[in-house]
Amino acid sequence: MFFEHLQKVPPDPIFGLKDAFKADPCPEKVDLSVGIYKTPDLKTPVLHCVSQAAKQILTHEKVGNYLPFDGDPQFVEEVKLLIFGESQNLERVYGAQSLGGTGGLSILAEFIFREIGKTIYVPDPTWANHAPVFQKAGLEVQAYPYYSSEKMGTHFEKTYDFISKLPEKSIILLHACCHNPTGSDLTQDEWKALLQLFKKKNLLPLFDLAYLGLGFGLEEDAYSIRLFSSVLPEVLIVTTFSKNFSLYRERIGAVFALTKGKKERDLVGGKIKRLMRTTYSNPPSYGAEIVKEILRDEVLKKQWIEELKAIRIRLTNLRNQFVDRLAGESGLNSYQFLKGHKGMFSFCNLQKDQVRMLIERFSIYMPGNGRINISGLNDQNIDYVINAILHVSKL
Ligand code: LMR
Repeated sequence: MFFEHLQKVPPDPIFGLKDAFKADPCPEKVDLSVGIYKTPDLKTPVLHCVSQAAKQILTHEKVGNYLPFDGDPQFVEEVKLLIFGESQNLERVYGAQSLGGTGGLSILAEFIFREIGKTIYVPDPTWANHAPVFQKAGLEVQAYPYYSSEKMGTHFEKTYDFISKLPEKSIILLHACCHNPTGSDLTQDEWKALLQLFKKKNLLPLFDLAYLGLGFGLEEDAYSIRLFSSVLPEVLIVTTFSKNFSLYRERIGAVFALTKGKKERDLVGGKIKRLMRTTYSNPPSYGAEIVKEILRDEVLKKQWIEELKAIRIRLTNLRNQFVDRLAGESGLNSYQFLKGHKGMFSFCNLQKDQVRMLIERFSIYMPGNGRINISGLNDQNIDYVINAILHVSKL
């Protein structure tokens, strides 16, 4: 027998909640779990720019051939411009299409493990899938302090202090914007201070950019990456278009490596292409076609920027509404810190047993760390969620 010794795998800390939510008969149930943007009727939209791009690409010449191992080169060039902006030295950047953010992280993790180092430092807390992806590649994962529940936000002094004591040439994961799961980002001054540390200690940043455009805007959310890339010789980046194009099912993302020069760019590219070839060989083309079409077509790009802005405004309004109603119901001002959060998520400082009670007693679903997907709230459920949170917080 080959299989009977296998151990049962525990449910995924984020996606595992979806089945439990589906099976829950409670009519008031609320799903605040997986990071999927939802409209007020709690549906995941197909953006208008995406529908239009889908029509337009039907008129293009059909190609049945494989894409290169590292994807559609024109897509990669468009994304490079989107992330780095016009002014950077793009010649030093190697880019490749990836299977969403997770696919990109997985390839970069393997690249790091084989070619660069054996340990990666990630913020505490971080996205629940970071450590498993890095560990699967063989990397040792260590946490650096990032968030303080007492301060209800980042505690930069501790982050800085910890990183300043790391060995030279350490590899550090940074959330470029809209930190997942806390919603708390560094300020521009903090990014600048951190950059000096990276420069002095010759540290390698790996930026995870999963929420470009969901924080302040497309330019503003690329700030940290552009800042680091304008000073450091080497930077790694992974991005995804699941969230900002609502292309969750297409698994479309990209990875970039800023290198010292063209020679190093090609060496990195060779290694990454090899990893892609031996993992899935060639990526699918549909998501890349859509994103490329939108980024290249002035009208569609403008439409995308508007749709993204509407998403951002809805998230901000919901967050503000959530905080104001919480304050109104409780007479407490203690949730004001949530208003400073950016992106899809907020950490409400809920303890594990409070989260368990929200799920078991109120059928309000969120990961065990108490992260809530703000877009899962709407006019029909927001008061129910607020009252339940206040109820479990008082116990
Ligand atoms: C999340 O954090 O919920 C999303 O990024 C979805 C995922 O893959 O976990």
